[in-house]
Amino acid sequence: MNAALRAVVRTALRRGVQVTGFLRGYEGMVNNEPIALDSQSVGGIISRGGTILRSARSKEFREIEGRKKAMANLRAADVDGLVVIGGDGSLAGALRLKEEFDLPVMGVPASIDNDIPGTDYSIGFITAVNTAIEAIDRVRDTAYSHERVFVIEVMGRKNGFIALEAGLAGGAEAILIPEVPYSLAEVCGELQKAAERGKRSCIVVVAEGAARAVDVRDFIERHTGAEARYLVLGHMQRGGSPTALDRVLALRLGSFAAHRLIGGFSGEMAGVDGGRLVSHPLSYVFSSSRTIDPERLLLASTMAQ
Ligand code: F6P
Repeated sequence: MNAALRAVVRTALRRGVQVTGFLRGYEGMVNNEPIALDSQSVGGIISRGGTILRSARSKEFREIEGRKKAMANLRAADVDGLVVIGGDGSLAGALRLKEEFDLPVMGVPASIDNDIPGTDYSIGFITAVNTAIEAIDRVRDTAYSHERVFVIEVMGRKNGFIALEAGLAGGAEAILIPEVPYSLAEVCGELQKAAERGKRSCIVVVAEGAARAVDVRDFIERHTGAEARYLVLGHMQRGGSPTALDRVLALRLGSFAAHRLIGGFSGEMAGVDGGRLVSHPLSYVFSSSRTIDPERLLLASTMAQ
């Protein structure tokens, strides 16, 4: 998100437009916490995870009274266009401000879950997956040496995008995601077949929306007799220095969103489609959903043999 913020600020300045940031996002709009952002204020942040503006889940902004307060504060700060960097909740807030107050808005998708339609990748996903596979690689050393099954739970809320990508890249023997029905008995059967083929260890990646790692571990131990351990990666996946791909993605999306907003477009979200920058109406983002790529699913099952 810092890279996207840096791109919004420097693109706007290049176009002769001043930029104001709001601390803690909508919460800072409701409580009137604007800060002037010049080129220096976004210097040295490209390598840092999270956001220097900080973030909050604002209860007040969910109510119309809160949004009226936010809008009054935006007007007082001379804001005539808003770029919102965030996940579906943040983008929904942007759409509200446009519909209720006719404020020109532009969205930039940022969520490790990668569940936002209209873009192949949202900011943070690639870094989160890299963090997950680093953990998987490390765990595999113990799994191999001690001949154990490891169940690794990754984030993703109700979606399995992180689990599928990390499972593929980490060479998992099984990947459990909420989008695809699974049977733990069948998973155990596959693990046993793998053991018969001579596999000394197995990694099972579980999306948090599919099951709890501890339950999967217990089931595997009870039904296969294998020694199993589990690990919940949790918020580790949401921090750390972003990868080069993630930084460049964020720069491109942030800059594109700023250009579109200054160019008079509104109510859209910037995205990438096959590497190209695209823009979709925010209404599209909320009327569709990202689906799991069947080609990746097939690949995962082929690789697990
Ligand atoms: O949406 C991003 C995400 O990291 C999810 O993957 C996870 O379920 C959730 O946020 C965790 O939220 P919190 O930090 O509020 O516990």
